[in-house]
Amino acid sequence: MSIYDYPVLYDVLFSDSWKREIEFLKTALQYYCNISGRGRIFEPACGTGRLLWRLARLGHNVAGLDLNPKAVSFCNKRLKRHGLKESAILGDMTDFSLNSLQQKKPFDLAFNFVSSFLHLTSETAALSHFRAVAEILKPNGIYLLGLHLLPRGDAVCSQEQWSVRHGSLALQSQLRRLSLNRQRRIETVEFRIKATTPKRRYEIIDTFPLRTYTLQQFRILLKKANCFDILETFDFNFQSPVPLNSQTEDVVFVLKKIESDRVDS
Ligand SMILES: C[S@@+](CC[C@H](N)C(=O)[O-])C[C@H]1O[C@@H](n2cnc3c(N)ncnc32)[C@H](O)[C@@H]1O
Repeated sequence: MSIYDYPVLYDVLFSDSWKREIEFLKTALQYYCNISGRGRIFEPACGTGRLLWRLARLGHNVAGLDLNPKAVSFCNKRLKRHGLKESAILGDMTDFSLNSLQQKKPFDLAFNFVSSFLHLTSETAALSHFRAVAEILKPNGIYLLGLHLLPRGDAVCSQEQWSVRHGSLALQSQLRRLSLNRQRRIETVEFRIKATTPKRRYEIIDTFPLRTYTLQQFRILLKKANCFDILETFDFNFQSPVPLNSQTEDVVFVLKKIESDRVDS
């Protein structure tokens, strides 16, 4: 059972953070891309498109891509309901192009928050992802990538819980690590959601693997991908720059596309 097969629940579960995420995206577009009007924005692993439709409503040209057909359908239906273009495509974030996204022009900015990138469990997949994102961006384009990094040592946070209420729907969720193999760089995570409505109570339990990255491993990957530089880093509240060290956990990387004449051969 995949939590991503429940777009309504997913959307409610992550409903608290959209304001600061949208503010950050607007600021990033202005500050890093010098665009104060309409931008071209792409979200790989867009899920329900909880941010895409809000960006589209602000006048930006948006597109999204996700592997889950239910999420893509939910995203497109919502865009349509708001009179916006249905611009989410079913696809893999390791393999896409402007063509497959049905786009003619490259994007100013791409973003991928809430650690979706960690669903790519091999180095090959992660490298393909970076190269595909770089391909669909303009020169000097920006990729905002939010990641939960694995700190060195044993001081590792292994559980997170939160509750949300939306009308008569109450959700309690718990995300916890079931296992961690630092050598294989795979953690297995369990995501439980208890939903309560006036008529029924039910529980969804999903278990999935994520790839782990220490800061150093992430830097090595980026160097190998050879298409983005780290420009800045923020915390998950987008408030302050995050100092990068071996204990750093939650980071939003501001990545800038490397100019093609600077790509190391
Ligand atoms: C944590 S959700 C994030 C959704 C959205 N970005 C957000 O901020 O709400 C992760 C998403 O990644 C998608 N996903 C996982 N692996 C993928 C892949 N290889 N290609 C495209 N999407 C993928 C899942 O279907 C899911 O919708």
